[in-house]
Amino acid sequence: MDHNRAPLWEALQKHHSYTQANFHVPGHKAGQAFDQEGSLYFSSVLPFDLTEVGDLDDLHDPIGAIKEAQALAADAFGAGQTRFLVGGTTAGVLASILSICRPKDKIIVARHCHQSVFHGCFLAGATVIPIPYAVDPSSGLELPISPEDIDRLLIKHPEAKAVILTSPTYFGVVQRVREISKIVHRYQIPLIVDEAHGAHFGFHPQLPIPAIRDGADISIQSTHKMLPAMTMSSMLHAKEWIDMNQVDLYLKMIQSSSPSYPLMASLDLARRYMMTEGERQLSLVMERIHFFRKKLEKIKAVKEIKRQSTMDPFRLTIESSYYTGYKLAEALESKGVYAELSDERKVLLVFSVGTQLAELDILYQTLMDLHVDKQVAKSKNKPMLLIPREGEIIPYAECRTRERCFIPVKHAIGKRSATHLVPYPPGIPLVLMGERIHQEVIDYLLFLLTLGGKVRGLIEYQGDYWLYVYQEIE
Ligand SMILES: Cc1ncc(COP(=O)(O)O)c(C=O)c1O
Repeated sequence: MDHNRAPLWEALQKHHSYTQANFHVPGHKAGQAFDQEGSLYFSSVLPFDLTEVGDLDDLHDPIGAIKEAQALAADAFGAGQTRFLVGGTTAGVLASILSICRPKDKIIVARHCHQSVFHGCFLAGATVIPIPYAVDPSSGLELPISPEDIDRLLIKHPEAKAVILTSPTYFGVVQRVREISKIVHRYQIPLIVDEAHGAHFGFHPQLPIPAIRDGADISIQSTHKMLPAMTMSSMLHAKEWIDMNQVDLYLKMIQSSSPSYPLMASLDLARRYMMTEGERQLSLVMERIHFFRKKLEKIKAVKEIKRQSTMDPFRLTIESSYYTGYKLAEALESKGVYAELSDERKVLLVFSVGTQLAELDILYQTLMDLHVDKQVAKSKNKPMLLIPREGEIIPYAECRTRERCFIPVKHAIGKRSATHLVPYPPGIPLVLMGERIHQEVIDYLLFLLTLGGKVRGLIEYQGDYWLYVYQEIE
């Protein structure tokens, strides 16, 4: 296939040069009317912010440029079939689950999946069977899921309709997809991998194998996160045997009927960029990161959290004995340096083909100049570590019909949460909707809030934190 081509981008350019008069949406009419100041910045993109006219094809029923662009993407990413997504990986995760699970079907889900996975299960009315996970106490990073745990759960729930994992995780932990897929396939069910953070895999021999080439049946990647594509643009990759009619049906329901052409074209262009320049650019940035990692060893105030060789090298997690993660991120921000996320202990830095040497120099200098206060080091709270307890979750089909009530957090212990309680970022629920609320989780979430963290699901009201719980029917 000719990866120098970008069929959707070409169709947009052709359309733009051929158009004489525009009597269709959007109302800015290819940028002819727009806020004057905004137009200074948006004017180069607006002519391509079009709709399904002429030869621009239709995402929901592609027969031309979009179909070709998706076929090129499937070839580039090693999939049998690929779909462009304009609602992020979230849209692909929701559609995958909805296409496979009917109400009350069981689905085996890694407990540390992103909230979008649990939202998909909720919408499908599926029953979540959580796969437990362990955390390495020294690094605070989650360990890869054990294939034996999945085997054990499949023996117990052979009627499960799918297994879903996150790989890599936010901090770059890659799952043993090949081994796990062999176990899952014994039950003739699909393995779905949320690969939101792994769209760059497969474009360099030193990077992990992408899930779809390693045994997964469906993988969903946030192209916008790790490749040069616009925010919200993602791809869903599937093996040939996946029934895409079902996936497409739900994508139609979940995504806009006016999908953004700049987003879709950015997917087409990201694929072309990676196929033509990706490996060279990844090598260059990997070299820069390697050099940066070496220099980081000399800095006293921070250190990199030890990583396994199988982890994604494009993620670097640092911690400091002088700062909580939140305070360290604040210190960086005060110098105009922005990290991907921070938590009570650590700060995550994410690199990509776009990372410039000059930015790494600024980061290095900022870390070198950090104020080191020995008193703080002594008094710094020991980071708490909390792994959700293994507990049974109310089937989501039942959750949807249960009454909810809004109560102060101190009265919620022992009740079942009617909302996910999610430290954000990274967006991994510590209490799932339908799970019992334990005192230690509430203590931990309140502790995060006192340190400046954010927790979705806890609402400040009348000087306290409140939340929604299900009314007990027992
Ligand atoms: C593991 C994981 N999956 C899915 C998502 C959702 O991706 P998107 O923002 O592309 O919808 C995220 C977002 O951060 C994520 O971290």
